[in-house]
Amino acid sequence: MPTYETIIVEKRESVAVITINRADKLNALKSQVHIEGVRALDELKSDSEIRVVVITGAGQKAFVAGADISEFVDKTPITQRNGFQERTLFNTIDSFPKPVIAMINGFCLGGGNELALACDIRVCSENARFAQPEINLGIMCGGGGTQRLTRLIGEGRAMEMILSGDMIDAGKALHFGLVNYVWTLEELETKTMELANKIAEKAPIALQLSKEAVKFASRSNLDEGLRREVDLFAICFSTEDKQEGVSAFLEKRKPIFKGK
Ligand code: COA
Repeated sequence: MPTYETIIVEKRESVAVITINRADKLNALKSQVHIEGVRALDELKSDSEIRVVVITGAGQKAFVAGADISEFVDKTPITQRNGFQERTLFNTIDSFPKPVIAMINGFCLGGGNELALACDIRVCSENARFAQPEINLGIMCGGGGTQRLTRLIGEGRAMEMILSGDMIDAGKALHFGLVNYVWTLEELETKTMELANKIAEKAPIALQLSKEAVKFASRSNLDEGLRREVDLFAICFSTEDKQEGVSAFLEKRKPIFKGK
């Protein structure tokens, strides 16, 4: 893997862990984080050994405390628009063909929450705090918050978070369905890696197609979604992994999936 200034990429067998590494700035997303994150995901996409990606923040205080506010000072409407029309980390995660888990270890604010929302599964530690505080800066969500948060937790809850800018704690995030699990900070990494490794053992093509189908659910109507599922399900029948999965079940053994 190439070396990066703002992120660390580690490969732990079939799981890659990307750590946003700006703990002194609570891992705020400056543009370089987007550029390096996109580059890392491009590398991991074509790395056949990697089956799942985990994204987290350095230190014990923050996942990501939002966009780097200092970069807003000189931004014009045009530079802001152009920046977000390039490939952002949010959209690269969204269309990434392998499962991505957000391991939220503290403040998860603004663009940090939008980053987590772009991931497939969110888990957090008890000290995590979530907010879309853009309204306090006289701006609004720009990294997908109004769309992804609303689809995930519903309009009323999303409205309150986005219009008030207030933080919610891990328990409320769990209650809202914003995260799937809350663990202690000490157990967060072990439990997340257990989940990541469990998913990494599944058939990679079936994972990719399942992710595509689930993401399509909030982007289509029911009939289109059901038709897409029929097609993607049929594609699974062209894979060696389908033969392996079915044979392993009938032979009462554990399947070994190869991503073919
Ligand atoms: N952009 C740039 N820098 C940020 C940042 C952000 N989003 N969030 C935190 N930082 C920086 C602080 O400026 C500070 O830097 P400094 O030590 O050079 O002064 C450092 O990170 C530590 O933050 P600090 O505010 O001292 O920590 P705290 O524990 O007192 O407060 C927060 C934590 C999260 C409540 C507070 O940092 C905050 O409100 N951050 C902004 C959150 C936000 O509005 N995000 C959405 C942006 S659209």
